[in-house]
Amino acid sequence: MQEKTTMEKITSLAKRRGFVFQSSEIYGGQSGAWDYGPLGVELKNRIAATWWKEMTQLHDDIVGLDASILMHPRIWEASGHVENFTDPLVDCKKCKSRFRSDQVPEEKLNAKKCPDCDGELTDIRKFNLMFKSHIGAAEDSASVIYLRPETAQGIYVNYKNIIQSNRMKIPFGIAQIGKAFRNEIVTKNFIFRTCEFEQMEMQFFVKPGTDEEWFNEWRKRRWAWYEKLGVKMDNLKWHQHGPDELAHYAKEAWDIEYLFPMGWRELEGVHNRSDYDLNRHARFSGKDMQYIEQESSNGGNSVSGRYIPYIVETSAGLTRTVLMILCDAYDEEKVADKGNDDDWRTVLRFHPAIAPVTVAVLPLMKKDGLAELAQDIRRELKENFATDYDQAGAIGRRYRRQDEAGTPFCITVDYESKDDGTVTLRFRDSMEQVRVHRSALTERLLKEIRDYKRV
Ligand code: GAP
Repeated sequence: MQEKTTMEKITSLAKRRGFVFQSSEIYGGQSGAWDYGPLGVELKNRIAATWWKEMTQLHDDIVGLDASILMHPRIWEASGHVENFTDPLVDCKKCKSRFRSDQVPEEKLNAKKCPDCDGELTDIRKFNLMFKSHIGAAEDSASVIYLRPETAQGIYVNYKNIIQSNRMKIPFGIAQIGKAFRNEIVTKNFIFRTCEFEQMEMQFFVKPGTDEEWFNEWRKRRWAWYEKLGVKMDNLKWHQHGPDELAHYAKEAWDIEYLFPMGWRELEGVHNRSDYDLNRHARFSGKDMQYIEQESSNGGNSVSGRYIPYIVETSAGLTRTVLMILCDAYDEEKVADKGNDDDWRTVLRFHPAIAPVTVAVLPLMKKDGLAELAQDIRRELKENFATDYDQAGAIGRRYRRQDEAGTPFCITVDYESKDDGTVTLRFRDSMEQVRVHRSALTERLLKEIRDYKRV
């Protein structure tokens, strides 16, 4: 039998442990859509919270926004998405399969032959990736509405509101996390490329001429974020977009790529979008999108300049980051030499700051008051940590279950705990165990999270 690929193992672990389920599974599934289960939603939320903290709380010059998904359709004309956000497609007239023409082998494409069944392929045509619908009762061209294909535009059309309401001065940024939708033709590789996904985007508004400096600064900062998350940095690299790859809005673009099980793929893009978007919105809306620079002097403020700012964008996929973190954390480790399945453990080495469960409390036995004592300790820890409780089965099995869920710390409550108030603190990565008094647990765990280093 063929060995499962790492992606198959991760997909099956994700389902088995409640990270990610196929959408609409009981109806045969909906391609391009996935549901995040109890552990998955915690992981996704924690990654998002870490990004949000990094971008807003730790940067005085960045504020947040949550714009709507449905926006005026003229926005997508202005942004260039109606005209340019397309994939080149071919269809097989025989088996009806659909392919992106740039992914069909050249000899097949030249011969207009289907790579699957050798049937005749259609001519290449442009296929717009935006989902289109109608708003209101009438289904005519006046009621057309799009699901946003990127969160960025919601920021651009609000940038003047934010300057006015929050007295922002250039350079400054606006951060947003939210859903985006693309009618992707190829959606294999689990949650890598989906039709419904989430983005974490930050748009940094700068004075023209300072854009290259800020672009390099943001490349450095985004790289550092992955280091902070404890990602294996050998699995990350930069890829600069060549002239043929640049998006219609980009002056310069660099991707951070991750070595996924299927190879190096884009994780996040850092783009110099120049003044393209704001210029286009000025033209299409008829509104003045210039930034008014003010100088303060003794007599008050005076206007010292007007310009359309340049925008440096950092655009990461949240759901794609969840997949990256699952791949990066996944490990199989030989832990004993007894010659059976128990010799191996599957472990997700999440950074404790993003692990879905931070600490699991396990009574050695259910009886003799140990379960009650363990529940009591769990109650104390709940205020500061995401906790789990498990009293079912042998203690070794319970540790394995927590390893597989990526829980960095387990606390075992035993007979000694009843006598002297100490418990066993077990570390997921090293499997080391130490005795700690229950009164010192919170401080100790906070310290372990702060000082965590990936082994
Ligand atoms: N605002 C710029 C923008 O949207 P992009 O390179 O098209 O740029 C940015 O997308 C990020 O969004 C990608 O690096 C990727 O992480 C994520 N992303 C894009 N399309 C996706 C899809 N179909 N499924 C999952 N994530 C996607």
